[in-house]
Amino acid sequence: MNKPNDLVRTSLNADDIESHASPSEHFNTILAARMSRRNMLRGGAVTAATAIMGSMGLSACGGSDNVGPAVTPTPTPTPPPVATEKLLAFAAVPKSLADQVSVPAGYTATAIYALGDSLRAATPAYKNDGTDSDFENRAGDHHDGMEYFGLSATGTPLASGADRGILAMNHEATTDEKLSSHFLHVNGGTTSLPRPAAEVDKEVAVHGLSVVEVKKTGTTWATVNDSAFNRRVTPLSDIEISGPVRGNALVVTKYSPTGTKMRGTLNNCGTGKSPWGTYLSGEENWAGYFARGAADDAARGDKSVVALKRYGRNQGSTSRHGWETGGTDDKYARWDISKKGASADGSDDYRNELNGMGYIVEMDAYDKTKVIRKRTALGRYAHESAAFSVPAVGQQLAVYMGDDSRNEYIYKFVSNATWLAADANPTDRMATGDKYLDSGKLYVAKLAADGTGQWIELSMSNALIQAYTAYKFADLADIMVNTRLAADAVGATKMDRPEWCSVNPANGEIYYTLTNNSNRTVNPTGSSQLAPDSANPRAYTDMKGTSAQNGNPNGHIIRFKEGTGAAAATSFTWDVYLFGAESGADSSKINLSSLTADQDFSSPDGLAFSPYTGICWIQTDDGAYTDVTNCMMLAAIPGKVGDGAKSTLNYTTTAGGSLAVDTFIGKKPTADTLKRFLVGPAGSEITGITETPDGKTMFINIQHPGETTSVANINDPTKYTSQWPSNAGYGAGKRPRSATIVITKNDGGRIGS
Ligand code: FEO
Ligand code: CA
Ligand code: CA
Repeated sequence: MNKPNDLVRTSLNADDIESHASPSEHFNTILAARMSRRNMLRGGAVTAATAIMGSMGLSACGGSDNVGPAVTPTPTPTPPPVATEKLLAFAAVPKSLADQVSVPAGYTATAIYALGDSLRAATPAYKNDGTDSDFENRAGDHHDGMEYFGLSATGTPLASGADRGILAMNHEATTDEKLSSHFLHVNGGTTSLPRPAAEVDKEVAVHGLSVVEVKKTGTTWATVNDSAFNRRVTPLSDIEISGPVRGNALVVTKYSPTGTKMRGTLNNCGTGKSPWGTYLSGEENWAGYFARGAADDAARGDKSVVALKRYGRNQGSTSRHGWETGGTDDKYARWDISKKGASADGSDDYRNELNGMGYIVEMDAYDKTKVIRKRTALGRYAHESAAFSVPAVGQQLAVYMGDDSRNEYIYKFVSNATWLAADANPTDRMATGDKYLDSGKLYVAKLAADGTGQWIELSMSNALIQAYTAYKFADLADIMVNTRLAADAVGATKMDRPEWCSVNPANGEIYYTLTNNSNRTVNPTGSSQLAPDSANPRAYTDMKGTSAQNGNPNGHIIRFKEGTGAAAATSFTWDVYLFGAESGADSSKINLSSLTADQDFSSPDGLAFSPYTGICWIQTDDGAYTDVTNCMMLAAIPGKVGDGAKSTLNYTTTAGGSLAVDTFIGKKPTADTLKRFLVGPAGSEITGITETPDGKTMFINIQHPGETTSVANINDPTKYTSQWPSNAGYGAGKRPRSATIVITKNDGGRIGS
């Protein structure tokens, strides 16, 4: 039932690139990423004994009876992650290519918040035909990481509120081809330069964050139109720079000559929720939105050329959407980071604009009057999620993070401040963020072949950073802006694209998804290819139809156990919890976790432990197994680091040599400890996960269904590669839309039971 790839795409997707390599290699890796994400084979529907996404019930726009964002501190309950019922008792959902959301029998999944949905009474319902405007008051595009913040019945902040709350979420990007976000525009928009201002304004506005109130009436959840909590944050919003980089010369721009603020947030991917109740958002593939002139190296003539290259902006780089061509207004000019002005400090142009992107951003979702802050002490890279250590009174807090590009690194930040119980319910949440996130130490992970590892501090006191000749660091702020270069200097371990991370609340162990790496090979050539090592031990070929997927196409999940000092430890042990693979693949070389047909997955990306049930939820963003199944979400009950065994993988090189790689494989899952829970619509990625504190309602995001739909077919819905969610009864028009879905259990039980 599979059919050959029938899509030819020519534009470049700026997601998930790597920038270790030379200019030509960089271009090739962008193309490779594009191909791996886009060349999905499509097939017919798979029928199964699963509940199909049901009628939509009430869509958006329920009542509006909230009383506004009063800030009333309330106790934060910390229910133990101990289940009283049997978990993973549901029947596994089969793999599927159907253009629908499939969940287990006994569960219901319903779209409630899709691209373009109105957040305000004055903004009309979304027509979904390219004529809509006012996106500053609508849901953004490419819903990604998301966190739930509870409200009381009367609409005041209440962490334990399970029937009414706020969803804060990231809008990572927009579905595009040939520059244009074609689903946003009549006839697909303008696919050449210059881009019209009106199109640019729409595309900018669908990026950033959104906050939307949600409320349960009876058993039905809906968003609350015109709630006082509803808001959008876009790439044009005022955001403060906080931490070591604030006021530094590296972030001086025409917009902020004092280097203290930044215009907006961009390509927001993973999330985190702080122990004091704020929302954290990671800026991921932001670099590709900026253009840089062909002769800018000579114009600059300083070390910024090295930094720009390391972050993927060689001179002559073109931008993802051409937003810099929208007009002469400053809001368009800022997307061209060439040195243009005569000033010595950059206060007359946007040569330093790129240094304002790439951080963890903190927002108080309850209070729109509080200024959003970029927490620069956590470093600058392609951020994913930010996962906190389990807070312990009197101990420092750790924030675990990853840098999602090929061959990039795993990081942790350790606060200087030690945890106070009262800070779980502060009167000023953003001030509490200042306390824990603006001063501390940033570390990068170095993993050894014996199953141990070290956290290496990135600071001016590190002799390797002082002595680094490729880039001369000036101070701590320079390290926080150019974190990748600092991590290079200390010899950190290059990983297979670190995506989300999460801390197991039961034992504090840290799980990282390593989504895939096409540049892992037994016969490396050039600077961007790497041989397998213990922590990234697989290099193999997986066939997708007739197309060979090389490297580590299915990804794995690594986990760490901190050594002495817990959150502040400088050493750890590790093993590989799971290897992604097709269930039929060789279990001695590829399917090392012996996944069955009910468990097999490829390219893990989102990962989060439920604080309520303790279930580890795993979500995929795949391009390798998509000839067989759409992306999915699995439920897992993992063991712990060291519960499996050491294994040695033996490779033969093309030169006839041998390579033996020791690795550590976690205890193999059983039908009771790993099971597929959901499969998404055609072309979508499953991402973002949060629950109500009773564990009975789950919200996840369906990102970019139908993203391979060509702009040439914009007026022919029969040629859309997905029509979700309209085909499930949600909203006007047939253009596919990213959307939040709500999942409940029909018997009122907890999700995953
Ligand atoms: Fe936006 Fe690396 O996921
Ligand atoms: Ca395959
Ligand atoms: Ca991703």
